[in-house]
Amino acid sequence: MIKHFLSLASFSNSDISSLIQRAQFFYEHKNQPDKVHHLLKHKIIANVFYEPSTRTRCSFEIAAKRLGGEVVNFVPENSSVKKGETVYDTLKSLESLGVNAITLRHSDDYVFEELQSKAQLPLINAGAGKHEHPSQGLLDLLTLTQEFQNLEGLKVAVCGDIKHSRVAGSLMIAAKKFNFKVILSGPTELLVPADEKNNIAHLPFDEALTQADAVMMLRIQLERHESLELNPKTYHTQFGLTVERLKALKKHAIIMHPGPFNRGVEIADEVVEHAQSRIFKQMGNGVYARMAILEWAMNGGKQ
Ligand code: CP
Repeated sequence: MIKHFLSLASFSNSDISSLIQRAQFFYEHKNQPDKVHHLLKHKIIANVFYEPSTRTRCSFEIAAKRLGGEVVNFVPENSSVKKGETVYDTLKSLESLGVNAITLRHSDDYVFEELQSKAQLPLINAGAGKHEHPSQGLLDLLTLTQEFQNLEGLKVAVCGDIKHSRVAGSLMIAAKKFNFKVILSGPTELLVPADEKNNIAHLPFDEALTQADAVMMLRIQLERHESLELNPKTYHTQFGLTVERLKALKKHAIIMHPGPFNRGVEIADEVVEHAQSRIFKQMGNGVYARMAILEWAMNGGKQ
């Protein structure tokens, strides 16, 4: 049976926990590549990215290769998309060429709605518009679990352009499922409504920092704004995670950012690699989370 990986909302808590455990297994066996190198043998994964990416595309590629799979990187700009080929026809074409699974990134929030019933191979959401980024959600949960063991009861402050963030979208779905609190901060016009019964609160940034176990900083997604005048210095003063603001953090609190980050805007240069930052560990976890997702997808949704 074909299983797509499209939204954390469609998974049970135990399914997500199994994926986290499997990702942790891959993390712990990162220096024993022979143990896992057979798992995607003879499988071909196509990365189809209609929006730019560094981390997601490369980590899906590395994940597939670590599992012994092969990878096709489809680049729309150099393809027949330029001659009018639709997303559906691109996917059908890759399917007919023998690809076994497709990771797809697209600017359309609802790109998977029609595709999922027609595709004869697993589709993996690698970021859909401002809606969801479930593989990022999984790697964020893996990072939080490594740090705190249990997600329940955690407070995760999220500051920035929440309204246009698919990363925040997936994290908020997870907060409801695993009963941790997401505290949103940032410019009022870039927030989504609080929803206390689903563990989504609002607090001014400086107050959120004092409560947080983890702080997830988000960049302003300028590509999703029609008209936003951003003064980087003013933004940094009001909402940037500065060295001065780190004094408000609890000693055990960690700093996260999905990337790409704009040093000196939402996060100070010195904070990116601060002792409390887990940003690069979080990024590295993208490989292990995506190994778990690819294995799951190629096994028809079984671990
Ligand atoms: N976090 C993330 O999705 O980064 P990329 O856009 O570089 O893939």
